[in-house]
Amino acid sequence: MAFSGTGKIWMNGALVDWADATIHVASHVVHYGSGVFEGARCYSTPRGSACFRLDAHMRRLFDSCKIYRMEPQDDLNTLTNAVLETIRANEFKACYIRPIIYRGYNELGVNPFPCPVDTAILTWEWGAYLGQDALKNGVDVRVSSWNRAAPNTFPTLAKSAANYANSQLIKMEAIAEGYSEGIALDTHGNLSEGSGQNLFLVRDNILYTPPLSAAVLPGITRSSVITLARDLGFTVQEEMLPRELLYIADEAFFVGTAAEITPIRSVDKITIGAGRPGPVTEALQKAFFAVINGEVPDRHGWLTFVYPGEPLQAVGAGAGKRSADR
Ligand SMILES: Cc1ncc(COP(=O)(O)O)c(C=O)c1O
Repeated sequence: MAFSGTGKIWMNGALVDWADATIHVASHVVHYGSGVFEGARCYSTPRGSACFRLDAHMRRLFDSCKIYRMEPQDDLNTLTNAVLETIRANEFKACYIRPIIYRGYNELGVNPFPCPVDTAILTWEWGAYLGQDALKNGVDVRVSSWNRAAPNTFPTLAKSAANYANSQLIKMEAIAEGYSEGIALDTHGNLSEGSGQNLFLVRDNILYTPPLSAAVLPGITRSSVITLARDLGFTVQEEMLPRELLYIADEAFFVGTAAEITPIRSVDKITIGAGRPGPVTEALQKAFFAVINGEVPDRHGWLTFVYPGEPLQAVGAGAGKRSADR
């Protein structure tokens, strides 16, 4: 979906018009991918607009900075408030949130230290990443011919722009061959993740997901789904998983801020389970959407309300609410 090109973007402490939020082509990040970023969402709930797990996203952003020896100009609290300020400035009820911290303009040696560490926060309206139909009916995917980065190469605990060169290869290959997404293996051939989503499998009512050591991003949705699954009484195992477990899984699904909980209906043209979202996937979608739509009490303290006066007391049917339509 193309940008509308309107609204405000936060840049190094000031809200600027969308069209003016530009950087120089000689900025370090343009040439060497020296940026770290976040992708979070603000949802419209009956009690007001609320960011989902904003604190966890901002913490991961600062973790990414630490790994890349970047010292942001502002502290975590200031940037968290800046996110809320940007949403308010744009008067969004619901939106996608993209803070990015990057090495800016000074000189162009590989050494990033001489370049300033700049920050921008973008917000825009972004619907279901893989489409509303994907949330309801699932997606057809392939195992990618590209692996995730080897250990001790590109750190996957950092959400670094550079890591998304690999994600782009996975995504383009999948699209070029008629699939919605690719699932990458790690360099040992174990299951890792999608180009921008973590992966879960279900077999005999037990949930499995690759561990952080399988070259996955430590997804906020992944951790939320683990919590919700355990709340529902399911066993969740984080362990190295062989590729072929995909094909014999009863259910499989992607999770992520953009993809939310998207069922997988086939892998490499092998049907997963009955070829439609299974009961465990549906139960987790229901639990997840109930939280983000503000339909249940926020037991885990995951919602940060954006506008003064919110959360409102009354709980009713949510406008603009998200669901898999069932
Ligand atoms: C490579 C990758 N894995 C997993 C995820 C899911 O992470 P989260 O749930 O924090 O959005 C993302 C999301 O951006 C991603 O880019």
